[in-house]
Amino acid sequence: MRLIVVVGARPNFIKVGPLVPALRAAGHQTDIVHTGQHYDELMSDVFFTDLNIPEPAWFLDVGSGTHAVQTGVAMMRLEELLIEQRPDALIVVGDVNSTLAGALAAAKIGIPCVHLEAGLRSWDMSMPEEVNRLVTDQLSSMHLTPVAEADENLVAENIDRDRIHLVGNIMAESVLRHAREIEGRQTCAAHGHTPGEYLLSTIHRPENTDRPENMAAILSAFASAPLPVLMPVHPRTRPLLAEFGVDESHSRITLIDPVGYLDMLALQRDAAAIVTDSGGIQEEACMLGVPCVTIRRNTERAITVEVGANRLVRAEQESILAGIDEALAGPRDWERPDRWDDQVARRVTEALAGGIKPLSGVE
Ligand code: UD1
Ligand code: UDP
Repeated sequence: MRLIVVVGARPNFIKVGPLVPALRAAGHQTDIVHTGQHYDELMSDVFFTDLNIPEPAWFLDVGSGTHAVQTGVAMMRLEELLIEQRPDALIVVGDVNSTLAGALAAAKIGIPCVHLEAGLRSWDMSMPEEVNRLVTDQLSSMHLTPVAEADENLVAENIDRDRIHLVGNIMAESVLRHAREIEGRQTCAAHGHTPGEYLLSTIHRPENTDRPENMAAILSAFASAPLPVLMPVHPRTRPLLAEFGVDESHSRITLIDPVGYLDMLALQRDAAAIVTDSGGIQEEACMLGVPCVTIRRNTERAITVEVGANRLVRAEQESILAGIDEALAGPRDWERPDRWDDQVARRVTEALAGGIKPLSGVE
């Protein structure tokens, strides 16, 4: 088949890392289109190098904007490309605006859309990603899911079971494929920290960044946490920190620029615990055996809580500190979820080999 894979934002790059080589090895003519949703060196280029991802055949230069502007511009440029290229299918991954733009553009011109990481639900429509997930799944012809619960979510939304394939978690495959490469990588020392003696944190969700009371609670919890905090800062969060009196001179919180994938894996592996609102990091912490505290009202990665790797806390100082204490004291010997292994991309190629059933009405 001739396939085009859409990427745009940081978590997308990690998902296509193991996927594209497997698609090519299975004989599919596969090219990447990069929408340009993320464009900084440390938010984009570094991942292509770290994960050895083939260079995108097209870069659409969409950039930042409101949701409608970003999604709309990406949709217009993707539509033009799809009309010109006419692939047999478009593959979209995850839940970012570029994912939705790809699904919308493809569905309207009758090109089947395949969604990898389908069926995850937070049940929280105030999350832009939940809107993206719901619409992308309704418009997709094939749904490649990371957990059995996702299959049930899709069935409850009237998706035919024969479109759903439980392939497992591609983020997990990426962690496993790079585990050897980070052996001996001392990224935390380069930032003045010692393995096992720091907390690693990333915060970028609007649910936290757009609420001053959440940011204030998170930063005051970090200032009094039992271990110092190392924080690679997302560009969305960077301008906010100074407003709360946290800058490079803080004695308990080390702020650093976003790091590449291999450095991030090394920082996670060496952390005593991870405190985050990221989707992907909840999964990676679960794979790496490092306890995670998630500062959110809900999570679509509920399986990580179920296996005992993760706990949800409210964005309040007491809850965050209690979550950190629990994470530091708790067990680390949870079982990895089913099919969070190094065979996920292979299962994707098997699913594609069975053919893609067109959406009803377009046969
Ligand atoms: C997006 C995704 C989110 C994902 C996150 C991963 C949507 C709706 N959100 O959120 O699901 O968790 O990416 O990191 O798609 N910026 C830069 N440089 C860049 C990219 C962004 O400075 O290379 C700044 C811009 O000021 C921009 C802001 O970050 O306005 C937000 O970027 P955007 O892509 O709109 O959303 P994210 O918060 O990154
Ligand atoms: N990540 C990274 N460097 C960083 C922060 C995150 O490489 O400074 C990686 C992280 O390990 C995971 C992915 O980015 O693989 C998660 O992306 P992010 O948290 O931006 O988005 P989400 O998963 O929440 O959509």
